[in-house]
Amino acid sequence: MINLKNRSLVSITDYNKEEIIRILDIAEEFELNQRQHILNQHVIASLFFEPSTRTRLSFESAVQYLGGSVIGFASADTSSVRKGESLKDTILTVSNYSDLIVMRNPLDGSARYASEVSPVPIINAGDGANQHPTQCLLDLYSIRKTQGTLENIHIAMVGDLKYGRTVHSLVQALSLFGATFHFISPDSLKMPSSVKTWVKKAGLEYHQYTNMKDVMPMADIFYMTRVQGERFPDPLEYEKVKNLYILERSMLKDAKESMKVLHPLPRVNEITQDVDEDPRAYYFQQAKNGVYVRQALLAAILGLR
Ligand code: CP
Repeated sequence: MINLKNRSLVSITDYNKEEIIRILDIAEEFELNQRQHILNQHVIASLFFEPSTRTRLSFESAVQYLGGSVIGFASADTSSVRKGESLKDTILTVSNYSDLIVMRNPLDGSARYASEVSPVPIINAGDGANQHPTQCLLDLYSIRKTQGTLENIHIAMVGDLKYGRTVHSLVQALSLFGATFHFISPDSLKMPSSVKTWVKKAGLEYHQYTNMKDVMPMADIFYMTRVQGERFPDPLEYEKVKNLYILERSMLKDAKESMKVLHPLPRVNEITQDVDEDPRAYYFQQAKNGVYVRQALLAAILGLR
């Protein structure tokens, strides 16, 4: 029996394979019939201590399509955090005003902490370089929709594999489905050992590369990432690596017809504009899928599906 009611989602590992599939199935339902007013009389708090376009607005869009109300802030600057209020006091206060809290915070582990002190469920909308489980679910939804399956895909992950929280969550989730991983990054931005150990423990293979060319013909998914300049302790190190991987349309000539290019966005220089015209570009549809997946999560956690 799958029951996600009142359960916080902090890490993608909080869900097992059946629970992940359940969310994707509910999301399909919302893709077919998006405007269902099942959140009447529910209030969702949206607390973003770090910038966001897609995650914040797609959550708010999801709430509104479901007929609920949103309160919150888009920057810590407009909250009492600026006066020195602690995260615990902020969460305890906001939980008085809402049925569920969506939170993005720059500190690794902050979402887990919030879930431990909060009387209402917390959905982690990204905590530092740690986890971004709702992005992971929309990535899985996009992969299943375009490839017809989540089982045994070859996925290339490119760019900032060290600080990019979306790839950490996605590796953990795809490990449940038997993927082969192709990690493409400079030495200084390699996938962390803890994530590679996860792959090994699942009995799966990963391969590491420094260029994209060798992987292009075998990939089902090319997952590009932005180099996360804001997380580098040394700005000079960021300057050295920020433009190392730029996907251009001409480079897709060796790719499968069915291959899709994903990117959690925002992009800076990682994908040239000409790729947008290629049928394998899927990153804007991927962002759209985020609304259906977030509708599914809200409905499941509030016990309405
Ligand atoms: N993918 C993603 O998290 O985008 P935002 O930072 O715009 O929310």
